[in-house]
Amino acid sequence: MDKVNVNGENVNELLQAHAHVWNHIFNFINPMSLKCAVELGIPDIIQNHGKPMTVTELVAALPTLNPTKACNIYRLMRILVHSGFFAQQKLSDDSQEDGYVLTNASRLLLKDDPLSVTPFLKAMLDPVLTKPWDFLGIWFQNNDCTPFDTAHGMTLWEYGGHDPKLGNSFNEGMASDARFVSSVLIDKCKGSFEGLNSLVDVGGGTGTLGKAISDAFPNLECTVFDLPHVVAGLQDSGNLKYVGGDMFDDVPVADAVLLKWILHDWNDDECLKILKRCKEAISNQAKGVMIKKKVIIIDMVLMENDKANDETSRSIETQLFFDMLMMVLQTGRERREEEWSKLFSAAGFSDYKITPILGLRSLVEVYP
Ligand SMILES: C[S@@+](CC[C@H](N)C(=O)[O-])C[C@H]1O[C@@H](n2cnc3c(N)ncnc32)[C@H](O)[C@@H]1O
Repeated sequence: MDKVNVNGENVNELLQAHAHVWNHIFNFINPMSLKCAVELGIPDIIQNHGKPMTVTELVAALPTLNPTKACNIYRLMRILVHSGFFAQQKLSDDSQEDGYVLTNASRLLLKDDPLSVTPFLKAMLDPVLTKPWDFLGIWFQNNDCTPFDTAHGMTLWEYGGHDPKLGNSFNEGMASDARFVSSVLIDKCKGSFEGLNSLVDVGGGTGTLGKAISDAFPNLECTVFDLPHVVAGLQDSGNLKYVGGDMFDDVPVADAVLLKWILHDWNDDECLKILKRCKEAISNQAKGVMIKKKVIIIDMVLMENDKANDETSRSIETQLFFDMLMMVLQTGRERREEEWSKLFSAAGFSDYKITPILGLRSLVEVYP
């Protein structure tokens, strides 16, 4: 930037730069306001009202609200209208008064919506998961594996094993995402599962996706494989079974291995070990007639910055948020196609196919 000329055009540039910095300093207010609205149950209250809801009606419907704070609810709603989570509509054609209604985004935050993102929001904004961001700068200068380790003295998986509250919240967050993904996957990617006799969902959590796949394909033997404390007490049923173990040691044999949101948690060396265990698992399975053995990955393929236009730059930003999240919570990263391709060859796979079917994430089939 040139020297500032208070009477000239550079003042505008200075003010824009200043506003940009302020906007970023206070960007955390968006998720924190959203989390507050979800904790107060506002999306469900507006939905149950059945018509545009005035601020007075909203205040009256908040059962735990301290009356001295009621005058502030419109301020919380104002920023959430601005960020697209609520909208305002006239109460009726001849009314001057507005009421709040849901938008497509807040419909995804309804408690009982089968595709609700609320458990994921609660898990990701839990203070245990946000605290490591305060340690990012320190982590760059110390020997710890992740800022999470710097903040808590252990890995995220160890923390989940010791603290059932965080463990359950994390698993519920993952399960809610698995419900969302399975609804698209089973509808749009049926072909990827047809013809398989067996599948193991490695790091399959509490089995939401495994259950959806086993229900959609009754002839497919599905195994959900995860850390022993995650699958402890979960009951096998029909063509679905649970196995506890460590994917770095051994992966149960099957025609196909599913890895949803696993490889982005780990660095390249760790991914290589996991992919090699997966290759062994599909190679050790008895040779089926005409069965194309494969590893099915659901993860992001980072979009290229230089292809960005206005529409995609927001998606790129969200992908970069995930990449940073993987650096702060885990040893992982989000990867570009070349990075995926290198990993697959290094692990001994011969070919892969990327289907960008899940918005910011893709289905990647990898063949031995
Ligand atoms: C990001 S979560 C993804 C869960 C699930 N695939 C989904 O997308 O909903 C990663 C999962 O990997 C599991 N995990 C971590 N380390 C593991 C290991 N060494 N062996 C097996 N599973 C592991 C975690 O317990 C967790 O359920």
